Amino acid sequence: MALAQLSLTDFRNHPATRIDAGPGLVVLAGPNGSGKTNILEAVSLLAPGRGLRGAALDSMVRQGAARGVVSADLKGPGAEASAPVALGTAIEAGSARRKVRINGADASAAALGEWLSLLWLTPAMDRLFVESASGRRRFLDRMTLALEPSHGHHASRYEAAMRARNRLLADDRPADPAWLAALEEQMAQHGAAVDAARHRLTAALAAVLESSAPADGFPRPAIMLADGDGAQALKWETAALADALRAGRALDRRAGRTLTGPHRTDLSVIHADQGQAAALCSTGEQKALLLSIIIGHGELIAAARGTRPILLLDEVAAHLDPARRAALFDRLATGGGQVWMTGTEMALFDAVPAGATRIAVQAGSVAEGTGAR
Ligand SMILES: Nc1ncnc2c1ncn2[C@@H]1O[C@H](COP(=O)(O)OP(=O)(O)O)[C@@H](O)[C@H]1O
Ligand SMILES: [Mg+2]
Repeated sequence: MALAQLSLTDFRNHPATRIDAGPGLVVLAGPNGSGKTNILEAVSLLAPGRGLRGAALDSMVRQGAARGVVSADLKGPGAEASAPVALGTAIEAGSARRKVRINGADASAAALGEWLSLLWLTPAMDRLFVESASGRRRFLDRMTLALEPSHGHHASRYEAAMRARNRLLADDRPADPAWLAALEEQMAQHGAAVDAARHRLTAALAAVLESSAPADGFPRPAIMLADGDGAQALKWETAALADALRAGRALDRRAGRTLTGPHRTDLSVIHADQGQAAALCSTGEQKALLLSIIIGHGELIAAARGTRPILLLDEVAAHLDPARRAALFDRLATGGGQVWMTGTEMALFDAVPAGATRIAVQAGSVAEGTGAR
């Protein structure tokens, strides 16, 4: 699965940018503010959701323009045999919704997910290991959701029931025990489902990471689910979770929040070859660990779906030394699949194997040459 052609019309700072991309590595190089991340964001809108910045749709229409459009031709692995799929999305200025078209027909944004699966890494994620557990939980949930679509439903039902229970406990009047118990039952059911899906994802990903070659100069992460105290997280069973919530009412009331449950789960990551916690690793090592996780996740998706997701790696070279960069490009090239990468200079990508698409981005357009049309 790869985007063969991509076009941005009045999207962010791109009035009209057209790119022809090969099926493998695609390099976007250009100065700060030239519009590299904007191109990745445009690609990310060809999947369900709000894109890799999580920005308001309205902010993506080029200032002064009435409507922004992103469209692309998607080719499957047997590229010659099958006709490309035309994916497109349009945003009207001032609108919070987008219109999606697949092969010329109106479609829902969710339907994009049947065609295209995308994984991305942005500089905003560089501090994932040192910041709070909530960021790692979101990361974990995004990875889980990519493999188990029902995960989002259970997560939002769990959160909604927890918010209702917290409100009830915070109320000065004594809470109706039957109502509390009903909310806790909801939390227990959906919480156990959320927890089980995370455990499945983590176990499968840990196995992929463990089997990845340690010799290619890239760190191997060892991952596990941890509880709020950093110990290995046990599975939450429905009945045990309901019991824990009931037993925790008084403490939770005093704390003003729910102190126990899968919403406290953390993703623990260790640099396996050094036995060092990711949070204590150098910035470059952390970046490499994160890249290893994303690549391993891509392998899981490829195994489940039969086709590799497209990877979007923004400012991928930042923090990586030349040896690590070369190891990364090598791994990405041998892994197969399309990978869009950005960096401020083409020289950062010298070690990218020949045959890659290289595009110079300049002030909202792409230069003539490979990949531009
Ligand atoms: N809606 C918009 N209309 C026009 N320009 C925009 C819009 N949104 C962002 N920009 C511009 O896009 C540029 C940033 O592009 P970006 O892709 O993030 O740069 P980089 O190449 O460093 O990744 C900024 O100069 C910003 O002003
Ligand atoms: Mg950028």
